[in-house]
Amino acid sequence: MAKAVAQKPQRTMADYRADFPILAKAMNGKPVAYLDTGASAQKPQIVIDTMKDVMETHYANIHRGLYEFSQITTTEFEAVRSKVAGFIGAGAADEIIFTRNTTEAINLVAQSWGRKVLQRGDDVVITEMEHHANIVPWQLVCGMTGAKLKVVPVNDDGTLNLAAFEHLVTDNTKIVSFVHVSNSLGTINPAKKIIEICKAKNPDVTMLVDGSQSVVHGPVNIQDIGCDFFAFTGHKLYGPTGVGVLWGRADILERMPPYQGGGDMIERVTFEKTSFKEAPAKFEAGTPAIVEVIGLGTAIDYVQGIGMAAIAAHEKSLFEYAMKELAAVPGLTYYGTGPEKAGIISFRADWGHPSDIGMILDQCGVAVRSGHHCCQPLMQRYGVEATVRASFGLYSNKDDIAALVAGLQKARSLLGSGT
Ligand SMILES: Cc1ncc(COP(=O)(O)O)c(C=O)c1O
Repeated sequence: MAKAVAQKPQRTMADYRADFPILAKAMNGKPVAYLDTGASAQKPQIVIDTMKDVMETHYANIHRGLYEFSQITTTEFEAVRSKVAGFIGAGAADEIIFTRNTTEAINLVAQSWGRKVLQRGDDVVITEMEHHANIVPWQLVCGMTGAKLKVVPVNDDGTLNLAAFEHLVTDNTKIVSFVHVSNSLGTINPAKKIIEICKAKNPDVTMLVDGSQSVVHGPVNIQDIGCDFFAFTGHKLYGPTGVGVLWGRADILERMPPYQGGGDMIERVTFEKTSFKEAPAKFEAGTPAIVEVIGLGTAIDYVQGIGMAAIAAHEKSLFEYAMKELAAVPGLTYYGTGPEKAGIISFRADWGHPSDIGMILDQCGVAVRSGHHCCQPLMQRYGVEATVRASFGLYSNKDDIAALVAGLQKARSLLGSGT
């Protein structure tokens, strides 16, 4: 008789929390309720182990060494390029450029492509809900080229005014850059539809999508979205700091000049003239974040092992649960109440300032973000200087929500009961 094969028990979402050692620690003597994943995600043990293993067993600089360690590390590093391409649906690994973070990815596009295509009379279109990382680089390049910055407004519920894309994008628009999922409102923008609207108005416009919060939240396919550039940052995707990604369409990357000069990006250097390698090397001057890139590869394996759709479903159900539980706390006003939301809840209380609330929550072991979330123009649009933001990750659970609600009740009792 055939022996029964023992099935490996299927892990549930609740099981993955144990993969994050920091979540078993205490904060101010209380079990930690980490609700600041929107700012940076905690790291699973497997990412920590991978990075440690590289440094302990075969670390060396890449691309140049003829010896074994350098070759192993180079192979591991370059394998992540293909992994990232697969993760976001890119056609080729050569379209993946490693940067320090999203901020550097957007600056790269602004300073390389932006300076090449923009001149006086042209414009760049962004939106009112952008992170400073998707505002300031465009202001800088507009200042250098004489181009104008135009801004798509946000509706009261935290969705984008889609009709404004139609008005604002003209024959003079060279670049449109917008956030896929807002870090301060949690709004999931209809990226594909926005790109269709913009390209219908001007087929030559270059579309950049800031995917910092979207690659973390659920499945993303850049071919389906139809963008020309896509940027994200490793530390929000359960990977290390110091590594980010810029995906660009091959034909555009080919026409872009280098952004920074240095080692590893050249073909030949003389004092008279330098010739450059093709993309992506052309955009990766100097020694990259070798260990961090390899760590990001493991983080991608990890989230793909769980399934991005499962992570999105978990976040959605936790978001709905949290909104029901938070109804027990009087005096809260929410920012970002549109129909399509990621696991991000932004609010103010009529009984306390966001900073005071954040400090009291900290004493309760609850980590949230209080402030402008690097979105000062968005805060100005709502007439506030700050909100409290609770943001979820794949490891967040109902205990975290219970700690948040209890902490807010305590804050209300300490700060006054409001109006
Ligand atoms: C939507 C969005 N864009 C850009 C950034 C910038 O990311 P980084 O600081 O890693 O460059 C963030 C980080 O908070 C973000 O949430």
